Amino acid sequence: MRPGLLPLVLMLVLVTGSWPLEQLPKDSYNINWSKFSGFWYILATATDAKGFLPSQGKGKLWASLVDIHSKGQLKVVIAVNGQQGCQAHTVMLRKDSKRPVFRNPLRGVKGFHVLATNYHYGVVCVWLGRAGREVKNLLLFSRQTTSSFLSLREFVDTAEILDLVRTVTILPKDVSCANTILP
Ligand SMILES: *[C@@H]1O[C@H](CO)[C@@H](O)[C@H](O)[C@H]1NC(C)=O
Repeated sequence: MRPGLLPLVLMLVLVTGSWPLEQLPKDSYNINWSKFSGFWYILATATDAKGFLPSQGKGKLWASLVDIHSKGQLKVVIAVNGQQGCQAHTVMLRKDSKRPVFRNPLRGVKGFHVLATNYHYGVVCVWLGRAGREVKNLLLFSRQTTSSFLSLREFVDTAEILDLVRTVTILPKDVSCANTILP
């Protein structure tokens, strides 16, 4: 996505109060998935899911392993350190046939959106939910355990517009959970 487009997309969210999947500029999906694939640390999170965030000071870095397959399939492994300790989840997402979005409704994943990336960092929003109960998880992906000012800024700005800014949590730099899914 070109940097200038994110505010535009987020304005739409703000105005319509929901994620305008159809109106999303094609650019936001015009990412090179092979380049986006691979191992990512997750340095920060913000969510409207209750009981999802680690208690203060108890967190560890999360991680994700993204793998694009042919035929529009995206395999996403995610390691999170929550109240149950370190857990890894794997989900296969499929590109919607009509809309440019990856999802797996049976597993409760309504959408995996990369809102911004330069392939060194990524601002990712994962929409989860079934039957009208939806939660969004905003994640700051990074190839390294440190974040640049620009990436953090973009993450916080996005969280603000999605009304998640009060839940922004910077995860402590403990790699013991993240490294469990290192390829
Ligand atoms: C996508 O990225 C891969 C890996 O970096 C590269 O080999 C390929 O040429 C890129 N494709 C396009 C269309 O830029």
